[in-house]
Amino acid sequence: MKIAILGGDGIGPEVLASAIECLQALDQRFALGLELEKGLVGGCAIDAQGTALPEATLKLARDADATLLGAVGGPKWDDPRSTVRPEQALLGLRKELGLFANLRPVRPVEALIGASTLKPEVVSGVDLLVIRELTGGIYFGQPSERRDGPHGREAVDTLFYTEGEVRRVVEVAFDLARQRRRKVTSVDKANVLSSSRLWREVAHEVAALNPDIEYEDLLVDAMAMHLIRRPRDFDVVVTENMFGDILTDEAAMLPGSMGLLPSASLGTRETRSQAGRGLRYGLYEPIHGSAPDIAGKGLANPVAAILSAAMMLRFTFGRIDAAEALEQAVEATLAAGARTADLVGPGETRLSTSEMSAAIRARLG
Ligand SMILES: NC(=O)c1ccc[n+]([C@@H]2O[C@H](COP(=O)([O-])OP(=O)(O)OC[C@H]3O[C@@H](n4cnc5c(N)ncnc54)[C@H](O)[C@@H]3O)[C@@H](O)[C@H]2O)c1
Repeated sequence: MKIAILGGDGIGPEVLASAIECLQALDQRFALGLELEKGLVGGCAIDAQGTALPEATLKLARDADATLLGAVGGPKWDDPRSTVRPEQALLGLRKELGLFANLRPVRPVEALIGASTLKPEVVSGVDLLVIRELTGGIYFGQPSERRDGPHGREAVDTLFYTEGEVRRVVEVAFDLARQRRRKVTSVDKANVLSSSRLWREVAHEVAALNPDIEYEDLLVDAMAMHLIRRPRDFDVVVTENMFGDILTDEAAMLPGSMGLLPSASLGTRETRSQAGRGLRYGLYEPIHGSAPDIAGKGLANPVAAILSAAMMLRFTFGRIDAAEALEQAVEATLAAGARTADLVGPGETRLSTSEMSAAIRARLG
């Protein structure tokens, strides 16, 4: 199990340290054969080497079976005129590794229903999986530039998709829905955007080939509303890159904190050291950013990073035993009342990042 560890900036390295501690405890119990190697990514890589994604980091990620990433970015590297930006590392890794499907499960823990800003009867029982297209759309389309035009400063971004890019991610949604409650909701803006009309057309073609799965289309603005009004109605939600980016931050509020949601980014690449076994390479990361407001203070919730490691054990290594042990340890720890600063209520004890991870690790045997 060769894993590239890219902590990045802000709370990234803090929450990854917790994930690593849990993986090491699992290694002892399940003999995972863990091999970890660290690399620079994001703002710290810009400081050290002038680029957000050094060649050595890309090679490290390529040569590993999976990559665990913390988060990148922060005010230090925020100058909008700068040509090197931490986020370039994320886009570069996704593109170079062909990671086109970003899986973001949203399943509020029953013990934390009260931590959500939404009413318990809305949040209870929610179990949805958002699949965000990750290597196309407006974050990659060209031209994307700022320039001087006849009316002064102007800027352009391009929302571009090929039918193949749409089909492969919608197919992932149908495949995963078949392992769940057999419903796919495709989200687009087909009343306005040509790219969305292509998206919908292709999604319908895939749906016609999968008649055992219930299918519906929703416009993204309506989805933004339904997601917090009737989130229990959704099973697998598939959408393009930018819509998925926005909707998943909104969905993060169902469980109550950005610090709880993991993600997996998958493509068709096989793992290196275990080639031929049908194991899929993946990049795993919490959905939150580098949270500069709380970095270095022990306030970060490590659960999203720890659950990202559990997704890695499940999706890349097929180690359902270890993944379930980790997920159950997280759930039991939260059920027992352990709360980091983002979750703590009146009268409850606040745990630091390392105290929370120690509490979870203690349940791993
Ligand atoms: N994948 C990534 O690396 C990624 C994703 C999003 C944003 N970013 C970058 O992160 C930086 C900060 O962005 P932002 O503030 O918009 O988003 P953010 O996700 O970093 O933080 C949003 C809010 O959620 C809180 N939060 C986030 N993670 C938390 C955790 N684990 N525990 C407790 N609270 C948590 C933060 O304190 C903040 O109040 C920016 O530079 C942005 O570009 C990176």
